[in-house]
Amino acid sequence: MKAIRIHAFGGPDALSYEEVPTPTLRDDEVLVRNKAAGVNPIDWKTCSGGGAASFIGKLPFVPGWEFAGVVELVGAAVEDFKPGDEVFGFIRFPQAAGCYAEHLAAPASQIALKPQQMPFSEGAGLGLAGLTAWQALFDKGQLGAGQRVLVLAAAGGVGHLAVQLAKAAGAQVTGSASAANHAYLKSLGCDAVIDYQTEDLSTVAQDMDLVLDGMGGDVGIHALACLKPGGRLVTLPSVTTDAVVRAAEAAGVQACGIRVEPNGAQLAELAKRYAQGSLKLTLAAEVPLAEARSAHQQSAGGHVRGKLVLTI
Ligand SMILES: NC(=O)c1ccc[n+]([C@@H]2O[C@H](COP(=O)([O-])OP(=O)(O)OC[C@H]3O[C@@H](n4cnc5c(N)ncnc54)[C@H](OP(=O)(O)O)[C@@H]3O)[C@@H](O)[C@H]2O)c1
Repeated sequence: MKAIRIHAFGGPDALSYEEVPTPTLRDDEVLVRNKAAGVNPIDWKTCSGGGAASFIGKLPFVPGWEFAGVVELVGAAVEDFKPGDEVFGFIRFPQAAGCYAEHLAAPASQIALKPQQMPFSEGAGLGLAGLTAWQALFDKGQLGAGQRVLVLAAAGGVGHLAVQLAKAAGAQVTGSASAANHAYLKSLGCDAVIDYQTEDLSTVAQDMDLVLDGMGGDVGIHALACLKPGGRLVTLPSVTTDAVVRAAEAAGVQACGIRVEPNGAQLAELAKRYAQGSLKLTLAAEVPLAEARSAHQQSAGGHVRGKLVLTI
């Protein structure tokens, strides 16, 4: 089968489109004929030797942790899926999962049925960002109805789903983005928007119960001042998590990091909301698998609206 692989850590030029062996199947896994793979910042970070690189083991490495496709074979212990099922998933993270490929083996507990009306390209983009948004807002952030939440990088992969999930939970949602994305953020349900290029976060956003920090670093540290007493910040970029948490401790407020975890039941909940029309996925672009280098360049640019996916 064809896949994208790296043989050494590096920038987009390290990605190579080549023939690789089809994965073998364990009893608790399904073999998927892949139709699309989501592209996330963790992909280019890991291929560069950062991100999840320490979990990858020996190279070569096939990147990609999320996909949508059709089940071809099921392992002996799999009861919930059968050949022909259309599924999507976010799998094995932070270990290698091999989703930038024509076939992949997926643990049955980490996938869900794809709603019929959901194109494969959208299904491929929903898993990683959707579960991150869900786990940051509700598992870590304990967001409830009537609370105020600030989503930093609200137009990005995680942010655009977090805005919709927070709104559906009855929260009052403020999102930050450049001015070009403000109408878009309002269309997703933001009650208020902040232009990070011209406005000072802590002046215009105050008394937040929760900040979902999709930026980290100095931006995340500055956003601690947006919290009300007893509020909390969940920061996403792992490379700056320690610095944000230390700054929160010094300021006497709560902050924590997160590592998104595969979760088939939560994926099924996201699928249900998609099917009901209350959760929509924005595709920034669909890029052919063989051109994964260009998708990594776009992702690393830091201004993707919604999700980038590779089509197979
Ligand atoms: N810890 C975990 O488990 C976990 C899971 C998922 C993601 N992450 C991390 O979380 C971060 C966000 O992920 P993502 O997939 O949502 O990224 P993304 O899709 O690449 O985010 C792109 C968005 O960031 C916005 N942006 C850029 N600079 C900004 C700023 N200063 N203030 C506000 N918005 C800004 C852009 O909006 P404009 O174009 O309007 O600037 C763009 O829409 C990444 O660092 C990722 O690695 C961590």
